[in-house]
Amino acid sequence: MSSTVNSWKISSAQAEELARQHGTPLYIYDSKIVRRQIDSFRAAFSRFDHRIHYAMKANSNTSLLHLMKELGMGIDAVSIDEIRISLEVGFYASDIIFTPNGVAFEELQQAIDLGVRLNIENLSYLEKLGEAHGGDVPCTLRVHPGLVIPEASRDATGWYQRSRFGIDRQQIPLALQIIKKHAIRVEALHVHSSSMILDETVFGAAAEILIDLARELPDVVALDLGGGIRPPHHADDDHPDLDALARSLEKPLSEFQQETGRKLQLWFEPGRYLVSECGLLVTRANVIKKVGDRTVVGVDTGFHQLIRPKLYGARHEIVNLSRPEGPLHDYDICGCLCEEDELAGNRSLPQVHEGDLLGILNAGAYGFSMASTYNSRPLPAEVMI
Ligand code: LLP
Repeated sequence: MSSTVNSWKISSAQAEELARQHGTPLYIYDSKIVRRQIDSFRAAFSRFDHRIHYAMKANSNTSLLHLMKELGMGIDAVSIDEIRISLEVGFYASDIIFTPNGVAFEELQQAIDLGVRLNIENLSYLEKLGEAHGGDVPCTLRVHPGLVIPEASRDATGWYQRSRFGIDRQQIPLALQIIKKHAIRVEALHVHSSSMILDETVFGAAAEILIDLARELPDVVALDLGGGIRPPHHADDDHPDLDALARSLEKPLSEFQQETGRKLQLWFEPGRYLVSECGLLVTRANVIKKVGDRTVVGVDTGFHQLIRPKLYGARHEIVNLSRPEGPLHDYDICGCLCEEDELAGNRSLPQVHEGDLLGILNAGAYGFSMASTYNSRPLPAEVMI
């Protein structure tokens, strides 16, 4: 027997064998799915001169990073340790972009010493960069898009609405003064508009905002449009069409080129799109109990290992790996932590027996990378196949 879920194909025997070798809970990453996602991303944007910097916050597993390197990705890093890990994996410093916020300027200085490109998101960093290095250290400027995104298209996490990232567009004149004063070389302009784009015109709208600024900054050679593209999690899941996103970029870029003679490169920083689907969190159903009218399956993982359902109300499909077929029953799947720890409510699954292996899908992005040791539980194992 085997389960086919999204692109995941794993037989009961294979799942059981991996669980025997590595124990449960266990994150399994399928490298074929990562390759496929990179290919489809590249194909959609192939009409542009573009570069991809993988947002490693989504998943910094070292085998995965080696694969990203082999497949020609650069890195979008958010901490000095993400930079160190990438350098150890073999990424060139020049292929790493550092987008810090809220950290001491010393951390930016360490990144400069390592030769990494900085993405500056506030006037304070810009002023300090100018004072310390003048025009010697080029940078990217992160702009707060301030886009009005229709309610229905906003990300499910509420992350966008509260976004505080980037230089407010009202402050652009001040930023230009600082750049001029210190002769800072701004080589790219950046925007990350949302972590779950649904509106397909958003890249075009962001490009227009950045292009306005590029007119005033002659050193700019690239627009960095961040990440935020979400692959579908289930058959009727709303998700953006990559071709439509790419099409929305054609007009602003070609108009800019005609007007100025400058051909801008495009950079992207996808995380979730590249790695969400590749990850399966395998967990053992240890306890099945009745509570009122609910049937609760108690499993050996929990929100310490996959926090997205608890934190964002995210829905992750769950399959019974041990019994992919059979009569369906309704279950609440609950983790092993000592507080409310529901991973999935009211799910219809082939009858679950104690000892069965369940698989939680789309666990490759922001799964292990957000895990903790709450309840003094160790981090789970990870394996790439
Ligand atoms: N670039 C920047 C500047 C970002 O802030 C992010 C994500 C990305 C790229 C990658 O975005 P992606 O393509 O993965 O959506 N923990 C949340 C997601 C937080 C994303 C934060 N920034 C979740 O589990 O949904």
